[in-house]
Amino acid sequence: MKSSDCVFDLETVSVAFSASDGLHMVLKDIDFKVRQGDWIAIVGKNGSGKSTLTKVLTGLCPISRGTMHTRDQTLVQLVFQDPDAQIVGETVYEEICFGMENQCFDPVDMPKQVQNVLQQIGLNVQIDRPVSTLSGGQKQLLNIASCLAVHASVLIFDEATAMLSPMARGKILDVVHNLHQQGVTVIWVTQWMNELSYAQKVIVLEQGNIAFRGSCQDFFYPESSESGSSPCEQLGFSPPYAIQVARNLLRNGYSLVNLPTCTEELMQAVKASWQ
Ligand SMILES: Nc1ncnc2c1ncn2[C@@H]1O[C@H](COP(=O)(O)OP(=O)(O)OP(=O)(O)O)[C@@H](O)[C@H]1O
Ligand SMILES: [Mg+2]
Repeated sequence: MKSSDCVFDLETVSVAFSASDGLHMVLKDIDFKVRQGDWIAIVGKNGSGKSTLTKVLTGLCPISRGTMHTRDQTLVQLVFQDPDAQIVGETVYEEICFGMENQCFDPVDMPKQVQNVLQQIGLNVQIDRPVSTLSGGQKQLLNIASCLAVHASVLIFDEATAMLSPMARGKILDVVHNLHQQGVTVIWVTQWMNELSYAQKVIVLEQGNIAFRGSCQDFFYPESSESGSSPCEQLGFSPPYAIQVARNLLRNGYSLVNLPTCTEELMQAVKASWQ
């Protein structure tokens, strides 16, 4: 890997918090690299250290041990779970300009940049619209627009769809998929197994340790057809319905041209395998 391609390089990163009963290690010897253009999914149960890791990556949480190299921290932006958590502006325009003002962008360029980012993510609202009148999904789109306005090239989503309806969730994933195709690096933290299919790599955290890393297929499918369970189940998650169907087909002797990771891929695999 060329060093210019590397957005994050973590080596034995540990984070400890002090509590009344002593030090608690919440991240333990975390090693991984992220390259420009990657889509990495980070999965883990409540309290496994996902948010702490996102804060480490965005420079919001100091590392207790180990090292992290980042190419340019100003290009890294975080979208939180609660759509209201990072909104400070009264209107859509104010909200998008807030980050640009903080980073001393030229005010002359701001109106055009606001229009550009709203168009880029397909949020069709008036710029003087009060933020309080937007839906949760629209607020998350606005949060993404604010990240793009300051030229973020790495977006970290900390369970950004957890508080949204299924429709809004799908919309956010579509928008992020589109940005990824334009070259944006994505780190997608989730507990929803049906949000993993775009990831090139899945990392599972368990009590602050990396318990699994590998492709989506490695995560969802058992190592061999004889071994019943996959890392997904071994780590306490349920594979999405499409994966269960694919695995049932394979178990019953049907071959598939590839191992699907979502409903669309299952449909394609079935068509391609049996036409
Ligand atoms: N500032 C802090 N001080 C002390 N302990 C903390 C602090 N922040 C997080 N922790 C602890 O670190 C552990 C990991 O928390 P973290 O928020 O990273 O988990 P998470 O995987 O994001 O969980 P969730 O799915 O609930 O969001 C938890 O035990 C939490 O209580
Ligand atoms: Mg969290």
